[in-house]
Amino acid sequence: MSSENSTTATITNRPRRLRRTETLRRMVRENTLTVDDLIYPMFVMSGEGQKVEISSMPGCYRFTLDLLVEEIAEIYSLGIGAIALFPVIPENLKDDTGSESYNPDGLVQRTVKAIKQAVPRILVITDVALDPFTTHCHDGIVDENGVILNDQTVEVLVKMSLSQAEAGSDMVAPSDMMDGRIGAIRQALDTAGYIDTRILAYSAKYASAYYGPFRDALDSAPKFGDKKTYQMDAANSREAIKEVALDIAEGADIVMVKPALAYLDIIYQVKNYTNVPVAAYNVSGEYSMIKAAAQNGWIDEKKVILETLLSMKRAGADLILTYFAKEVALMLHK
Ligand code: PBG
Repeated sequence: MSSENSTTATITNRPRRLRRTETLRRMVRENTLTVDDLIYPMFVMSGEGQKVEISSMPGCYRFTLDLLVEEIAEIYSLGIGAIALFPVIPENLKDDTGSESYNPDGLVQRTVKAIKQAVPRILVITDVALDPFTTHCHDGIVDENGVILNDQTVEVLVKMSLSQAEAGSDMVAPSDMMDGRIGAIRQALDTAGYIDTRILAYSAKYASAYYGPFRDALDSAPKFGDKKTYQMDAANSREAIKEVALDIAEGADIVMVKPALAYLDIIYQVKNYTNVPVAAYNVSGEYSMIKAAAQNGWIDEKKVILETLLSMKRAGADLILTYFAKEVALMLHK
């Protein structure tokens, strides 16, 4: 008998009843994070036998193709079903229009083939944007006044997508934020017979300072200006729905919100708006903040990682791109 009985007898609803034991908490739990939710973004560089840690992303590496394939075999065995591939392109292969992006023998194309040969069942998602391939590091073609040219860029994105599909990519993921690119890519893929190549659209991608460490990883910080004429303004949410609606109408199979943590409200709104699966990108800066605090001993890293990713599930994400994927897969296996 609790001594609280007499004084609190008038309380009819006691939500704490359902929190009293771990078994009960598990029974009434509304959301769970599983390894099926995870997509692992990975960086590939040219060369052989090397793996170089990214200084602003402790625990993340640029791998040469051979070591990347070994790593992918390992993460697939941990249950991770998909990777998102980002290439580090040597300076001498970059130009103003990103033409290396559709070289049939380019780094991305060779890597996709090698992965599909070694670990055929892992889903390979390839990024469609010009920034790893351009000398100025913008996601599109730039005119003499520094203006990003939409329609000329879309033409290159189409060539890039076709070349990735040809190499065996399971899903192309345009992260460039040009207008009309989803429709143009869908039509070109279908015309070429790639009717089953899926499109994961970075639909609501914000101009965010959280991409800093990723740009270190790829050496891809823009050489002039910023990305605010194509990526979205952090102040806007209705515009996210507009972008999502357009991408779905143009043929996107999955839509994405990026970044995730500072945009949980956007994930929630997009989820309520649409029936297509919603992905969230737990971006580099979100990863590095947790790593830095953990390295200082200021937070419990594992618990913070799980709580953070669960918040994205709760907001409505069906899929999460996260650099924590391998660590989380290991945690969930225990
Ligand atoms: C560029 C691209 C970026 C990221 C993925 N694709 C950076 C940018 O837009 O400048 C960022 C991912 C991350 O920060 O983890 N197309």
